[in-house]
This record gives sequence, structure tokens and C-alpha cells, in this order.
Amino acid sequence: MNEKFSKIGFILAVAGSAVGLGNAWKFPTLVGQNGGSAFIVLYLLLTFLVSFVIFLGEIAIGKISEKDAVGAFESLAPKNKNLWKFAGFCIIGAILIFSFYSVIMGWILKYVVTSIYFLPNSMKESEEIFNSLLTKDLGTSIFYFTIAVLMSFYVVSKGVKSGIERLNIWMMPALFIFLIIMLIYSMNMNGFLDSAKFMLMPDFTKLNKDSILSALGLAFFTLSLGVGTIITYAASLPNKTNLLTSSLSIVFINILIGIMMGLIVFTFIFEYGGNPAQEGPGLVFISLITLFSKLGFIGNLFAAMFFISLLFAALTSAVSMIEPSALFLINNYKFSRKKALKFIFVFVYIMGILCILSYQSVTSNSLTFFGKSFFDCLDYLTSNLMMPITGIIVAIFVGFVMKKQSLYALFGLYMGRKLFLIWYFLLRFIAPVAVVIIMVNQLFFS
Ligand code: TRP
Repeated sequence: MNEKFSKIGFILAVAGSAVGLGNAWKFPTLVGQNGGSAFIVLYLLLTFLVSFVIFLGEIAIGKISEKDAVGAFESLAPKNKNLWKFAGFCIIGAILIFSFYSVIMGWILKYVVTSIYFLPNSMKESEEIFNSLLTKDLGTSIFYFTIAVLMSFYVVSKGVKSGIERLNIWMMPALFIFLIIMLIYSMNMNGFLDSAKFMLMPDFTKLNKDSILSALGLAFFTLSLGVGTIITYAASLPNKTNLLTSSLSIVFINILIGIMMGLIVFTFIFEYGGNPAQEGPGLVFISLITLFSKLGFIGNLFAAMFFISLLFAALTSAVSMIEPSALFLINNYKFSRKKALKFIFVFVYIMGILCILSYQSVTSNSLTFFGKSFFDCLDYLTSNLMMPITGIIVAIFVGFVMKKQSLYALFGLYMGRKLFLIWYFLLRFIAPVAVVIIMVNQLFFS
């Protein structure tokens, strides 16, 4: 028998997995580039028509089987069990994401520590500091990365209930409170109005064909689909949980935190004339931190609070990347939790170090493949190949292989027949086609 989450523990743990670095910079950047709320409308539409549909599919696989991802596919497939079992190995994707995600967590940790006493006051200085961390300071990078990895493993070593649930149950509300404090502070700045306009005023002319695909990709990434995480957490879902309202709350929290993050980040960008088009890590590690320095001492507190929030968001996602493989090793090889984690640790530690080395100038050449650093290769491999392929397999498996009655027995109570049939239709015919389209586009046209 698996350990079970409490009801609120489940919601917060899955929301914790979903809310992560994707919300901190992917979401605001894409919203900014694609016409503000026009993009949000599109994103919501695709979230409900595609990602949410697959999300419920993963919940069904996990809850009905109550097994780890590999065991779940194996036990639910009526025939060809050995073949379906392979779909469960998507959990490797979670470990690969963890390998580079924990490197970013290391950067965040370093920024939490240094921003208390020092903030760069020009973009140039800020850029130099960030670049030197990535390309020269091997010792510092490894040091903070190691702490980030140890923290994540420590939480998972305590198990689902006293580790993962306990972490999320205080860290998610704390994250939310920090964001509220920062948001209130931002509201008093002139940049807030511009930020709100930038994020919330729809400009449908800015939408293009790429917007649809980015929205779909984001909707997929941000719900942590396609790597066995949702399947694994759903295996510890307490009975009699209202699956519809809990899943909707998770999606709602995820969107809300993305919007709050965006409003805060862009208030500073507009207030101090930063560059809103700057993407990815540069947005926070280079631009934002310089802008905080303009506030004097309060800026240091603000910066520390901001990076702690990022750390919380990332840590609650990180633990959800380790648990799927841990549960698999525990169930299949009868490993103790400690032993399972030791195995996973060795693997991710090596992969993480390779990610770090692939940015260091001395070693970057030998760790570049097809013109991409090892770090970027892992990101590409997981986001563009492994996650969408598993998404398609989940849709087909739940839609065509699993029994419709058992799905109805699970969801019917909360959804009613009509909504269930709509979901079932979307799952079988719309979701897989949509994902194939994103994938083909990402692989061949971008
Ligand atoms: N949802 C996370 C974010 O927004 C990232 C993520 C993608 C993830 N796939 C995952 C997290 C799998 C946990 C497990 O940052």
C-alpha cells in the first residue's frame, strides 16, 4: 500500500510540482511577447482542451492502479504488458529534467545568499557576474548545486507524507504570501500600471501561428505532464477526493502564480527601463537583480525575498521529479527508500556536473553536441521529445486501452455523464492530434 497524501496535501503537492521556473520566466515572457491577455486566453483554452485532458488521464492511470508509473502501465494493460510497461520509463525524463533544474536551483541559492549584502548596479556588471558564474567559477557552481541536490533528496528521503507533503504544505502558502507582499509593494510603483497593461490588455493582432504552439507547449510543460510525475502522485491520492475540483484548483493556482510573478517582474522592468523582451534566466539573473539595486537597502531584502520565492517554487517541483523513480525502484526491486535514492543521486549528480561543465569555458567544447551544450540538450530532449511523446501515449492508453467503465467509475461521480463524455472525446481525438502538431512544429520548424 502506498502512503497517501491528505486531500489538501495532494492539491498543494501537485500545484507545487506545476508551479516552478516555468511560471517564473517562461510564462511572463511568452505573455509579454504574444499580446498580453490575448495569449492568456489562448493558453487557458489550450490548457482545458489539451493539457488538462491529459492531466486527468495521468490521474486515472495513477489512481486506478495505485502503482509507480512502470507498474501502472503494466498492470492496467490487458495485453502486451511488456510493451506498455516501457511507457512508464518516461520517469527517466523527470530525472533528466532534475539534472539541469537543480543546476538552476544552485544559481538561485547563490543569489539568495549574495543579494543580502550585494547587488550589482549596472546591467554590464550584472551580466559579467552571471556569466562568470556560468563560465568560470566552477567551484561556486558545484558548491551551490550540491546543496540544492542534497536539499531535494533530503525531502524525498522522508517519504510522501512526512517529506513531500510537509514541504509543500508550508512552502506553497509561504511562496504565495511572499508574492502578495511583493505585489503590494509593486502596486505603489509607477511601473505597475504599465506592467498590468502589458500583461493583461489583450492585443489580438499580436497573436500568430507561433503563439498557438507556444501556448500549447507551455500548457503542457507547466502542468508537469509526460514524465510520470502526475501518475506517481495520483497513486498516493486519498480516496473520495473530488477529482474535478482538486484538479481545477491546481490549474487555477498555477495560472494565478504565473500572473503574479509576471506582474512583479514587469513592474520593475518598466519602472527602471529594463528590457521586457529579454528571455529566460537573463530576465531575473541579469535584469531584475540590477533593478532591485535602485531601491537601496530595501532592494536587498526584496531581492532576497524574490530569490527565496524562486527557490521555493523550484524545490517543490524538484522533489516531484525524483519521487517517480524512487517509487519505481522501491516497488520493483524492493529497495529501501534510502537505497533507491542513493542510486538516483549518483546518476543525477553526474548528469548535473556535466551540465555545469558544459557551460564552463574550459570544458564547454567537449560537451557541445549538435551545436547545443549538454545542458541545453537535456532541456531539448525532455521538453521537445520525451514529454510530448509520453503525452500522446497517455492519451492513447487511457482513451483506447483502458476500460471506459473504470474511468467512468472514477470520474463520473464528480463530473456527471455529459462532462465525462466530453473529456473522453477530447482525450481520444483532440489531445493526441494537438500534441503531434506541437511536436512536429518544434522539431522541424523552429
Ligand atoms: N512544471 C514545472 C515548471 O513550471 C516544470 C516541469 C516540467 C516539471 N516537467 C516537470 C516539474 C515534471 C516536475 C515534474 O517549472
